[in-house]
Amino acid sequence: MKILIIGNGGREHAIGWKIKQDNPEAELFFSRGNGGTEQIGINLSLDTVEELADFAEEEEIDMTFVGPEDWLMKGVVDTFQERNLTIFGPGKEAALLEGSKEFAKDFMLKYGVKTAKYKTFNNYTEANEYAKEQKYPLVIKADGLAAGKGVVICYDKFEAEKALDEMLNQKVFGAAGNHVVIEEFLEGFETSILSIFNGNEITPFISAKDHKKIGEGETGLNTGGMGVIAPNPYFTEEHFKAFEKDILAPTLKGLITENLSFAGIIFFGLMITKDGVYLLEYNMRMGDPETQAVLPLLKNNLTDVLFAALKGESVELRWRDQHSVCVVVASGGYPLNYETGFKITGTDKVTCPCFVAGAHLKEDSLYTSGGRVLNIVGTGDTLEQARTIAYDNVKKINFDYGYFRHDIGKI
Ligand code: AMP
Ligand code: GLY
Repeated sequence: MKILIIGNGGREHAIGWKIKQDNPEAELFFSRGNGGTEQIGINLSLDTVEELADFAEEEEIDMTFVGPEDWLMKGVVDTFQERNLTIFGPGKEAALLEGSKEFAKDFMLKYGVKTAKYKTFNNYTEANEYAKEQKYPLVIKADGLAAGKGVVICYDKFEAEKALDEMLNQKVFGAAGNHVVIEEFLEGFETSILSIFNGNEITPFISAKDHKKIGEGETGLNTGGMGVIAPNPYFTEEHFKAFEKDILAPTLKGLITENLSFAGIIFFGLMITKDGVYLLEYNMRMGDPETQAVLPLLKNNLTDVLFAALKGESVELRWRDQHSVCVVVASGGYPLNYETGFKITGTDKVTCPCFVAGAHLKEDSLYTSGGRVLNIVGTGDTLEQARTIAYDNVKKINFDYGYFRHDIGKI
């Protein structure tokens, strides 16, 4: 069996690792992959949708898995399907549920998916007039993909004016800011729920809790994620029922009614408030680093699950009755400027999954090449055991200016 995985982060390494655990004979190809994926498969440098499809055709790839959202928005799934190539993920139009916040919010409103109240604008003066009259804090979002930076929480009308000016007039996010969504601020705690969609049913994964800020105690700048624990200990059975009723069921109805069905992943970014469970956003792909924390707890053979979903068959997921803690080891300076090219030592002593997020392989050694460098994942019968395993292994890793948070799973 040959599988092509598109992407180059810790998420893609974790997906490849899980496939190899379940099917050691699987041949894996990554484009572009990284120094971790190179140890379990072959890295390729395919730059366009056509190059990816040509490769899949020539190599007779059995299935292609799309990691990041930008390839979905480029229509990789549509092109593969036109060429009768098997690919897991949504087409371009369904990918808009992540790629356009306006499209996503309109979909949520139309189908009664519980979400924050909002209004969209493309005109600065009108947006600003509206923002002035709102309650604060207020959330302003650039419509398009902005690498996680397009959301600003404003505490007064001056901050709102600045954010609107930057997005609509100065175009700091380029075309992604041609439209903005202004929405009410929701107070609560966040939960990530990944799920698998087979075109008829959405099967949720266990919950996860991301730790988005760079600093201890969830302070400082936003990052792509500095750690994840699964399941999320704050997300109760009652919250889960509310999620199924207020978010999952209307989402499914909307996808089917709008003819947006596909076999792929839907990631629900939730805010749990005292008034219930709200949907902040859809991502149409696996989360990073949620995937790294969640997949080690999945008992099923992942490849079987993906092929079942592609055939529209029901998927029943089985989870270890355990906890996992994923700690991200980053380059000092991230998420701002950081240096790369430092030799990483100690990974050979790590006794739990160690996924490579941003490092390349040179003469059998790993060298840093990104902001988030490694993801160390401990699993155990309790959250505390999982934490101990993760941090005992993090201590074995060494590279210049390496940085990690000590409180993943503590707050
Ligand atoms: P999004 O890309 O829409 O998930 O937004 C990024 C982050 O901004 C979320 O993970 C939340 O931390 C925060 N956020 C987004 N929308 C809201 C909201 N309506 N109320 C409070 N926080 C929000
Ligand atoms: N960890 C959040 C994301 O993948 O978007």
